[in-house]
Amino acid sequence: MNFESSEIPKIVIVGHVDHGKSSFIGRFLYDIQEITEEKVLELKKASESRGVEFEFAFLLDALQDERDQGITIDTTRIFFKTKTRKYVFIDSPGHKEFIRNMITGAASADIAVLIVDVNEGVKQQTRKHAYLLKLLGIETVITIYNKMDLIKYNEDKFKKTRVKLDNYLSDINVQSYASIPVSSKLGDNISTKSKKMEWYIGKTFIEVLDSFDISKNSDSEFLRFPVQDIYKIKDKRVIVGKIELGKLSKGKDLIFLPSNERVKIKTLEAWPSARKEYQRGDSVGITLTEQIFVDKGNMASDTVKPPKLMNRFESNIFWLTGKKIFFNKNYLMKINTGEYQIRIKEIKNIVDTENLNLKRSKNVEKNDICEVVIHSSQLIPLDDYSFNKSTARFCLLDDEEIVAGGIINSKNYPDQREKNEYIKKNIVPVNFSVNEIDRSIKFNHRPGIIWLTGLSGSGKSTIAKNVEKKLFKKNYNIFSLDGDNLRIGLNKNLAFSPEDRTENIRRTAEVAKLFTQAGFIVLVSLISPYRSERKRARDIRPELFREIYIKASVEVCLKRDVKGLYAKALKGEIKDFTGISSPYEEPEKPSLIINTSKEEVEESVRKLENFIEKEFSF
Ligand code: ADX
Repeated sequence: MNFESSEIPKIVIVGHVDHGKSSFIGRFLYDIQEITEEKVLELKKASESRGVEFEFAFLLDALQDERDQGITIDTTRIFFKTKTRKYVFIDSPGHKEFIRNMITGAASADIAVLIVDVNEGVKQQTRKHAYLLKLLGIETVITIYNKMDLIKYNEDKFKKTRVKLDNYLSDINVQSYASIPVSSKLGDNISTKSKKMEWYIGKTFIEVLDSFDISKNSDSEFLRFPVQDIYKIKDKRVIVGKIELGKLSKGKDLIFLPSNERVKIKTLEAWPSARKEYQRGDSVGITLTEQIFVDKGNMASDTVKPPKLMNRFESNIFWLTGKKIFFNKNYLMKINTGEYQIRIKEIKNIVDTENLNLKRSKNVEKNDICEVVIHSSQLIPLDDYSFNKSTARFCLLDDEEIVAGGIINSKNYPDQREKNEYIKKNIVPVNFSVNEIDRSIKFNHRPGIIWLTGLSGSGKSTIAKNVEKKLFKKNYNIFSLDGDNLRIGLNKNLAFSPEDRTENIRRTAEVAKLFTQAGFIVLVSLISPYRSERKRARDIRPELFREIYIKASVEVCLKRDVKGLYAKALKGEIKDFTGISSPYEEPEKPSLIINTSKEEVEESVRKLENFIEKEFSF
């Protein structure tokens, strides 16, 4: 194994102050023989003479002062190696510095370890630290249950604490990669398997470390090539940039975003001569087989797994100034080589980094870290931080001053890229001889799409059902398309990811369009949580489309919880549940608002019935 050529994985250990972080690191370094026996003996003697019991934590203090162990130490980094690879423990003097380093990329951890004193159990601090990891984009942790000796290696007690911590982690969408019961004091399960815990069949800490695959985060085959500049050299247009991920070679197919155009690489350009292939970290120039419009800030990628194109997304930002956040102000977002005007639309949570408390107020202060929703008027090519750190980091500027650093969370919003641009070619629609107007005249009303949007449990289906019945009796050609029903048939291959919801909405809108062509008024009941996708549905038949907001707050829907889904979602049994773990964007200008938390069903039904009669009768 060539240590020099591989990147050294960075490990961060977090947890309650008294839960044994230093002892754990001390013991670990001793166990893997990074610290000599003599050094330990010397410290043991020194402790004895001071009348205190020796602890492995003292080793760290001692190592801070001395640098004679062949271990490179400064206040924040401890290098070590196992049989498999080199590592470095990273630490910071305080939360603030730690968060700043993580978000700006100055020192971002590849592996996170959460330590908990199994005797004391999960404390508020443990939860806060876990939540902080999540805010920093870490989705997988190794959990260490320390001080097993104090509970006499009792399996039940260990399990109880583990269930508690695992439940909390799953609530915040963090996964535990391994749960290891250890004793730092006596060295159980750190580098050697404990004989006192026969019941534990998992790996030791060192085995877990060595098995941890960091390549997913730092090395991937998918190309990310942000365009830095375009040079005109004689009659060639050379696109230059630094490869952030993946590889480049002659003949490779690329997609450029945001234009979404596909082209091939014609040549690789470098001085004095180009290699056959370039990879992550290399700066290189390319020319293309076709002349497409490419600009600084564009992102080239493979044709599979390109970044998402987004104009709204979530992110966790670290606020660096005393200035207030304004919702109606434009900030300049610099990401990769691009610059975009954005607005912060919503602040979801704020954490004070001094004490890691979740703030009740929505006032963001200097050094707070917060979860925000960002809107931009342009489409931006974005990677999720868990896919690739280097392309998912950005900073925000206000009047040329950097006001925040942030990382992208693109999971909850859909890709806005048109995927089917090639399919449209060579298709010629047929005109039939009975048209929409003939049908309308016969049916005595115009066709229409009545699009009911709102949270699950807000009352969409109930209202649709009653309105359908009433208007049917009045001789309307009316039909209901209901989200749940369509998901049994036409949409049964779709789940609840942003992309699946987008497709769900698209298909449903297309079916609704067919019904309007048949002369029907269609009542569509679909959560349809994204404004952008509802707009796309509207754009299919704008003149016939009416958006109806069936309004009820999450609290009200949660209380009703007719299907018991909210309870499950809160327990983490349903992923991406709208209103709980997935966003709902209220309509901005609906044709009608029906507030079901204030009105009786009859009133809501009457309102919608009147609305349809007024809008669609001849
Ligand atoms: S949409 O978001 O894609 O428009 P749709 O209206 O089709 O959703 O389906 C919503 C229904 O699916 C809900 O009424 C509920 O019964 C069920 N459901 C199951 N899982 C979820 C989830 N994760 N989020 C929202 N609804 C869900």
